[in-house]
Amino acid sequence: MADPSRHPFLQGLSKYRGAPATVIVIFGASGDLTARKLLPAIYNLSHDNLLPPDFYLIGFGRKPVLEEEFRGHAEAAIKEFSRREINPAAWSRVARNTFYLTGGYDERGAFDRLHVLIQKLEAQAGRALQSLFYISTPPTVFQPIIENLGASGLAQRHFGSPQQSKAVIEKPFGRDLASARELNRVIAGVLQEAQVFRIDHYLGKETVQDLLVQRFANAIFEPLWNRNYVDCVQITVAEDGGVGSRAGYYEQSGCLRDMIQNHTMQLLALTAMEPPVSLEAEAIRDEKVKLLRAIQPLALGPGGDVARGQYASGLVGGQPAPGYREEDGVNAESTTETYASLRLAINNWRWAGVPFYLRSGKRLARRVSEIAIQFKCPPGTLFAQDGQFDLAANTLAFQIQPDEGSTVLLNAKIPGLETRTQPVKMHFRYATTFGSNTPEAYERLVLDAMISDGTLFIRGDETEASWRLITPVLEHWQAQQKEGLDSYAAGSWGPKAADDLLVSHGHEWRKP
Ligand code: BG6
Repeated sequence: MADPSRHPFLQGLSKYRGAPATVIVIFGASGDLTARKLLPAIYNLSHDNLLPPDFYLIGFGRKPVLEEEFRGHAEAAIKEFSRREINPAAWSRVARNTFYLTGGYDERGAFDRLHVLIQKLEAQAGRALQSLFYISTPPTVFQPIIENLGASGLAQRHFGSPQQSKAVIEKPFGRDLASARELNRVIAGVLQEAQVFRIDHYLGKETVQDLLVQRFANAIFEPLWNRNYVDCVQITVAEDGGVGSRAGYYEQSGCLRDMIQNHTMQLLALTAMEPPVSLEAEAIRDEKVKLLRAIQPLALGPGGDVARGQYASGLVGGQPAPGYREEDGVNAESTTETYASLRLAINNWRWAGVPFYLRSGKRLARRVSEIAIQFKCPPGTLFAQDGQFDLAANTLAFQIQPDEGSTVLLNAKIPGLETRTQPVKMHFRYATTFGSNTPEAYERLVLDAMISDGTLFIRGDETEASWRLITPVLEHWQAQQKEGLDSYAAGSWGPKAADDLLVSHGHEWRKP
């Protein structure tokens, strides 16, 4: 059906072909995320002709940098981190409209200068520009940036029109429930919720979006997607890398804040939510919030629902790896957890009684993220082997990364005269079916923010629902210090306490 708000020439074309004329302002322009993710994403969008003809990029940072230098830095970052080789024509379309502005985040005058620059670019373009303020700084300066966007009038530019200003906010979104609420309060004082795009880059991953398609576009799954058939659900976000050069941040964060509160909780919400009434942003977000609110508070203390660990030295992929406390910038007495796992109970009609196990950690045996739905075992009566019923539980596993795809574990007959069974796997692999050059999460997310589609971003109430669950765990661990902090060898699958969480409920972790 024709969309009356779209230009007649764009009717029938993909919504991505109609991004309005835009200026993206990156706060934190010389940061790591800008170099590794944002600049390559913008470049690849230019390569795919997905940027609007009037597109401008302004780097904003505290470091005094000449415009030429910033362009050189951007080009070097793209060369190093882009999924594609740099193509001079595609890069020059971005480079010729790239600017840099030096300023403090709490310096009101710098925001006025930014406003003047945007007005100048608008005069040059001869049309209204949408301003997208991408806040990719340490969280300590989120508040002054947002307040200055308000005070300088930048947040209100073209308000109420398709060109109204938007703010993209990187994680971490708060440190706990109180700080997330405070940040939401500051934001709400300056911007409407429709102007705010809180990033969780896991939602931009193809495989995470495919989860919705697999769940709701296949009639065979939904009838089984409940407590009558599902025995447990296991969500794993495992990394083989250590803390790297981010000890300063990670020491203050730990695994629960860094990975569980956001990425794994989002995977959980998409896996367990009710079918949304449409694929519109609000419909999906409403279901996610309902699901997060149905999760029961976690039992803490011995025999409770949580486990944590910290990596000691070990071998990862055959190479020696140092322990966390020996890493650069880490306190030798650190009690920061590099591994966390939770056992969650969702108290609603669909899931009552089905445990959801979540785990994430650094320096684990391998890098793998997956969601595994483990079904109840069929009665083995027909297939007893040597007096034993030995059927494997059917399992549907979505491999989020790497080696993206999904697998179904079935029991099959071993060829031969006897009726003997063996678990076998059916695989679907993205790379085999669709080729391997899929867009990076950030390409999709930057473009979605440009066309004001909030589906893959987190709403304010979602962040609070997730923090409400996690904050008591943080406080408990803070009070416990090193008590209950297990160590695990780098290259293993995590601490024993995490295994115990499952054993007590008759389950064990998968070895993905
Ligand atoms: C980030 C965390 O959000 O996600 C990092 O801060 C982590 O600690 C990273 O390494 C993992 O992202 P991905 O896309 O590589 O799985």
